[in-house]
Amino acid sequence: MYKAFYGLRRNPFEITPDPSFLFPTGRHNEALASLYYGVRRHKGFVVLTGEVGTGKTLLLRCLLQALKKSSDVAYAYVFNGRLSPVEFLQYIVTDFGLSGASNNKGELLLQIAHYVVSRSQKRLTTVLVVDEAHHLSTEILEEIRLLTNLETEDEKLLQILLVGQPELDEKLDSSSLRQLKQRIALRSHLLPLDSKETSGYIQRRLQLAGCAYPSSLFPPETIAAVYQHSQGLPRLINTVCENALIAGYSRQMRSVSPEIVDDIARDFRLGVQTPQIEQKKASDELDVRKAAKTLLDLYAQLQAAQKRDEELETRLRVRISEQ
Ligand SMILES: Nc1ncnc2c1ncn2[C@@H]1O[C@H](COP(=O)(O)OP(=O)(O)OP(=O)(O)O)[C@@H](O)[C@H]1O
Ligand SMILES: [Mg+2]
Repeated sequence: MYKAFYGLRRNPFEITPDPSFLFPTGRHNEALASLYYGVRRHKGFVVLTGEVGTGKTLLLRCLLQALKKSSDVAYAYVFNGRLSPVEFLQYIVTDFGLSGASNNKGELLLQIAHYVVSRSQKRLTTVLVVDEAHHLSTEILEEIRLLTNLETEDEKLLQILLVGQPELDEKLDSSSLRQLKQRIALRSHLLPLDSKETSGYIQRRLQLAGCAYPSSLFPPETIAAVYQHSQGLPRLINTVCENALIAGYSRQMRSVSPEIVDDIARDFRLGVQTPQIEQKKASDELDVRKAAKTLLDLYAQLQAAQKRDEELETRLRVRISEQ
């Protein structure tokens, strides 16, 4: 509804991970390169972690988009880590397009192994991608370890990408999974954007959406407010900016003011904390409790956003499998 008013062709701050909106920060570039290199060079086991809403799923979608262009790559894409070991293996078998997924774990592993080996003999690349991998149980991670054993003397036959929130690192650090940890060939980690990146991020999204004058619509002081409230987390930046545009439109303002952003942050209970205030308050127990509550609220919003993403991904998955 605000698009025509602000001269935009499309919504600049959708929270769905859309590869065409990628803002390539140094870290995002490095992480994407490491995923791509790991797959193409048959490095075997690659791990990407990052805080909630930092762009992990977006990078996976960028990667899969690139891999789809090569006819020699087949992949299974698991985006739900909350499966039983049998369901997990069945999902992979089905997603690889193999028929007759068994109910037996051993048979399923064998089915995957045969498929991977026969593809490798034809010099084809096979990839297993697991998003939300921080939800994987130790049992499934153990099955994944077995799959990493598919190798020749000089290369891995199945390329495995595990992507998840920082709890994944913690899981992989546990002593029961040390064998799996030792097999990680490449590892990268995404961080929230810094203030300069946040500015570039907002401007790029506005430009891609057709905005002729991004810095008039979101002046530097407004971007500073967005950074302050979002702490550079891309999903939160999107939520704040999207709502700021709606509020700006309803007030018929041609430019989004920092006050609008502050209002949105208040509505979303993001809290207003300058670094000095944060320091001053560090020893104040009451404020620590408030901060904890703010974080919980923030987390609830992120969960809601994630749920929406998951629903979209399910629809996307259905579409992909129909093709
Ligand atoms: N570098 C980036 N360029 C453009 N958009 C980005 C970037 N990083 C993140 N985003 C956007 O931020 C939002 C959240 O990204 P995404 O869903 O990929 O995060 P995530 O790390 O997978 O989060 P979660 O841990 O909740 O799964 C999406 O709208 C995504 O498009
Ligand atoms: Mg994700």
